[in-house]
Amino acid sequence: MTDLFSKFDPLIQQRETLLATGVTDPYNLVMEKVISPTVAICNGRETILLGTYNYMGMTFDEDVIAAGKDALDKFGSGTTGSRVLNGTYQGHKECEEALKEFYAMDHAMVFSTGYQANLGIISTIAGKGDYVILDIDSHASIYDGCAMGNAEIVAFRHNDVEALEKRLKRLPPEAGKLVVLEGVYSMLGDVAPLKEMIRVSKENGAMVLVDEAHSMGFIGENGRGVAEAQGVIDDVDFIIGTFSKSVGTVGGFCVSNHPKFEILRLVCRPYVFTASLPPSVVATAATSIRKLMHGSNKRAHLWENSKVLHKGLRDLGFTLGTDEPQSAIIAVIMPDLEQGAMMWEALLEEGLYVNLARPPATPANMTLLRCSLCAEHTIEQVGEILCRFERAGKRIGIIG
Ligand SMILES: Cc1ncc(COP(=O)(O)O)c(C=O)c1O
Repeated sequence: MTDLFSKFDPLIQQRETLLATGVTDPYNLVMEKVISPTVAICNGRETILLGTYNYMGMTFDEDVIAAGKDALDKFGSGTTGSRVLNGTYQGHKECEEALKEFYAMDHAMVFSTGYQANLGIISTIAGKGDYVILDIDSHASIYDGCAMGNAEIVAFRHNDVEALEKRLKRLPPEAGKLVVLEGVYSMLGDVAPLKEMIRVSKENGAMVLVDEAHSMGFIGENGRGVAEAQGVIDDVDFIIGTFSKSVGTVGGFCVSNHPKFEILRLVCRPYVFTASLPPSVVATAATSIRKLMHGSNKRAHLWENSKVLHKGLRDLGFTLGTDEPQSAIIAVIMPDLEQGAMMWEALLEEGLYVNLARPPATPANMTLLRCSLCAEHTIEQVGEILCRFERAGKRIGIIG
C-alpha cells in the first residue's frame, strides 16, 4: 500500500527541524482570553495583538454584540440549511441590504466565508473555454476557484500592468475573460494599481473581479476599498469581500451591478450546497457594516497608526515589505525561517503577537513577520509595540 501521506514528508521534516531548535510552535498559539480587539491573554501573559485582521476593531463594538445576542435569542443558534432552501432568514436579507448600501451597488450575495465567495463566483462565471487572468500572488481561494471552474489560468507578474496587458493581448478576442485582482495583497500589505489594470482589462474585453478582503472598511473615503480610493469602483464588475476582517465576524460576499447577477443564487455550488451563516453572525455583520459606513474617524486613526509603525520600524533598522505604508498591514522581512521563528517567539515573550508567514504563502520564498494594525490600537500601544520590536530585534540579532 502506498502511504498517501508520504507527499507531506518534506513538510513534516521541515517542521520537526524547526521545533527541534526548541522554539515555540508558531502555528499553535492559543488565546486563553480575549480582552479587547487589541489585547489577549496568551501563555498566561497579557499580549498586544498585532496579528489579527480586526482592522476596524469591531469585534467588541457594543451595538454589534447586542445585535448578535438579540438574534441568538430570537432566531436560535443556526439555520441548519442552505440559502436556497431553509437557510435564508430575515437577517441574511438585511445583511445583503447593508452591503448594497455600503457599496452603492444593485446586488449582494452573502456566502458562509470569503473563501467560498471566491471559490463560488470565480468557478461559476469562468468555466471551460474561458480565461482567468490573475496576479501570480493571488490568494489560495482565487486559485481554487479557477481550478474548480476549469477555466484556463493565465498568471502575470505581481502588480505589473504591462505584463497583464501583454497576456490579455495574446488571448483570443472572442473568448470570455475574467481579470482577478486584489485591492491589498495580504503578505506585503501592498496595494494594486487598480486604475491602470482595470483600464487595460476593459480595453481588452475582460470583466474584472476585485477581492477587497484587506481593504474593506479602511481604504477609500467610505471604506469601500482600493477601487474606491483610486476612483474606479464603477468599472469593477464584481467585488469580493469577507466579514472575517474589518467587519469582525465570519462570512463572505460578492456585490455587483451586473443585471443577471441574481441567477448565481441557483447555479453557484459553494452557495447552494452548504449551510448558511447563523442568525447571530449575519446580525453582527449587518450591524458592523452599517457602522463602518460612518467610520471615517477610525479610518483616519488607523492610517496614523500605520504611518507611525512603518516609520518606527524602518528607523529601528528593520527591512519592510513596502517603502511607504500602503495599508493596515506592515510586513517585516526576516533573513530566514529559523531567525523568523526566533524573532516571533521573542516578541511573544515580550507580550506582542504578530503573524509568522512563510513560503508557500509568501512571495519570493520570504519569511515575514506580518503586523496588522487595528483602529483600536492607541498611539501609546504603537509606541510600546516599537519598544518591544527593538528589544526583541536586538536580542535575536536582527537589528544592531
Ligand atoms: C485576499 C483574501 N481573499 C479571501 C480570503 C478568505 O476570507 P475568509 O477568511 O472569509 O474565508 C482571505 C483570507 O485571508 C484573503 O486574504
